[in-house]
Amino acid sequence: MIPPEFIDDVLSRTDIVEIIDARVKLKKTGQNYSGLCPFHTEKTPSFSVNGDKQFYYCFGCQASGSAIKFLMEFDRMDFITAVEALAGRVGLDVPKEQQSPEAVVQQQKRKSIYEVLEQAATFFKQQLKDHESRDQAVTYLKARGMSGEVARDYGLGFAPPGWDNLLKQLGKTNHERQMLIDGGMVIEKAEENKTYDRFRERIMFPIRDLRGRVIAFGGRIIGDGKPKYLNSPETPVFHKSRELYGLFEARQHNKKLEQLLVVEGYMDVVALAQHGVNFAVATLGTATTNEHLERLFRMVSRVVFCFDGDTAGQNAAWKALQISLPHLRDGRSARFLFVPDGEDPDSLIRAEGYEKFAQRIQDAQHLPDFFFEKLSIDVDINSLDGKAALSQVAMPMINQIPKGVFKELMMGELSNITNLTAAKLQSFSKIEEVLPSRIVRAVAPAVDMDGYDGIDPGEPDDDFPNFHGYEDLPVDRIPLSALAQKALQILLIQPEVCVHLTSDTLAQIKEDRGSTLLAEVLWLIMEDDIRSPVLLLARYQGSEDFEPMRQLAEKEQLLAPEDLEDEFLGTIKKLTESRQKETKATLRARLLSKPFSQLSQEEKDQLRTLSR
Ligand code: GTP
Ligand code: MN
Repeated sequence: MIPPEFIDDVLSRTDIVEIIDARVKLKKTGQNYSGLCPFHTEKTPSFSVNGDKQFYYCFGCQASGSAIKFLMEFDRMDFITAVEALAGRVGLDVPKEQQSPEAVVQQQKRKSIYEVLEQAATFFKQQLKDHESRDQAVTYLKARGMSGEVARDYGLGFAPPGWDNLLKQLGKTNHERQMLIDGGMVIEKAEENKTYDRFRERIMFPIRDLRGRVIAFGGRIIGDGKPKYLNSPETPVFHKSRELYGLFEARQHNKKLEQLLVVEGYMDVVALAQHGVNFAVATLGTATTNEHLERLFRMVSRVVFCFDGDTAGQNAAWKALQISLPHLRDGRSARFLFVPDGEDPDSLIRAEGYEKFAQRIQDAQHLPDFFFEKLSIDVDINSLDGKAALSQVAMPMINQIPKGVFKELMMGELSNITNLTAAKLQSFSKIEEVLPSRIVRAVAPAVDMDGYDGIDPGEPDDDFPNFHGYEDLPVDRIPLSALAQKALQILLIQPEVCVHLTSDTLAQIKEDRGSTLLAEVLWLIMEDDIRSPVLLLARYQGSEDFEPMRQLAEKEQLLAPEDLEDEFLGTIKKLTESRQKETKATLRARLLSKPFSQLSQEEKDQLRTLSR
């Protein structure tokens, strides 16, 4: 926390014209200065800087703010760094407000973790240079067409075979060992009092944050084997669903980033860079999230999603599209590039080279085209109910786009296709409770790789209690219990009834075998902040859960809308209570199966309480 008075002080001593003029060519025009806006593409200047008010404003894209904001957007600094930079210029030191003791401890811990991860990255790089079994790693990278230069740029390394290379090198004291554990590099098996390296015999990809600090690793097995990729777990410095691999490097390589290409794999990012496409980033084995989008659009105004051409790729792209909509204020765009079946960006660029691949990026499908194309599959646009069905799905989605020209254009396009007026179309978005019985088949939930780490055979991996993916959901679904069904039905009418559930409750639901689908839907609503029933259901189109869910959604519901939340919470309470009862019964049965005399004192006490 920087005191606000200090910020005022810094700003009052800073000349915004000087700051901006060093980065954008400005010309004096009357009272103000003007130039070409650095935040959108334009041919005539609409960017103006007011020296008196210490303020910039763009008449084209409405970007505006102080010198701090300018540095944050233009130099992509975070807030603190921007204030520090300006303070430094005028010779002031940023005072730090008193922090709570816990916050200080947390911060120190994070600092130690950053340090140990940096050392780990150095160690892995060194091993790639001189470990006795480095040959297999080097040969592998060469076979994949990787040059030494790119390996250096991305800081690639090698975790040698063995259970304690890193532990021995960096875990000499108790504190160091603890930091290795907290940083996700070493696995601790408390019951057996054992610790060992998480990453063994793998090519290591350091994942860096925007400041270039190593925050995690991805490790690829050399050759075949499982799991193919292993990622660091969630740690105090690493949150998988937020980070993008390659973002730091993309910024390093490009003075002015104009677009970012989002791909699926680490190898894709590195291989693309190897061939000159040095603005690719990868999600870390998860589907694209809202947080990713926020981050991407803060840095560039054009995001190109690159997916496989197969069904899974189409589904993932559709999900990315849905998440993008609320971010698409005027001036921003999302595009879609589908690589041919059987290829990925890595294999494709290696086969056809930079020029052809760059052309594909250039030709990537614009969001509106993908949107209407996808929604028109299976719908007879010439029939009345086809038009109605299309509008019913399209309208709530279009309404997610921020007000502006782009949104109007999308509405206009929908009008053209359906021959319905804008007013008529808007009426569709208001009758969401009446669910369309014939919607286009379009979407299935994207396959989420999150948690692959957890199925490493023989790997007693940490079971971080997050609620991020489908990871522990059993593959074979058992039918929903009656209670779960009731809860789901309410969610399909009013998704937001669940927003106040505690993580504890969510975890219990997730454990319950009869609530698998319910848990997944809850997760989806929370993670993507879904408020519209139609959008929620739309996520399941094309999946086997769609039809049962649709039927559930259309089942008669006798409660008044204002009573739904109470009913939902009551149902969830019953569900968790019955789950607890079940757990207790299982535990009791287990204790009863042993002779009483062989139970420990603790177990005896437990049994007594349970039997009461
Ligand atoms: P290569 O086979 O090395 O070319 O990798 P790829 O990127 O082509 O692999 P794939 O398309 O199978 O995976 C894409 C991304 O999904 C990877 O970069 C990982 O982030 C993730 N992924 C794939 N397999 C696994 C796995 O076994 N565990 C985890 N945690 N993630 C995986
Ligand atoms: Mn690949």
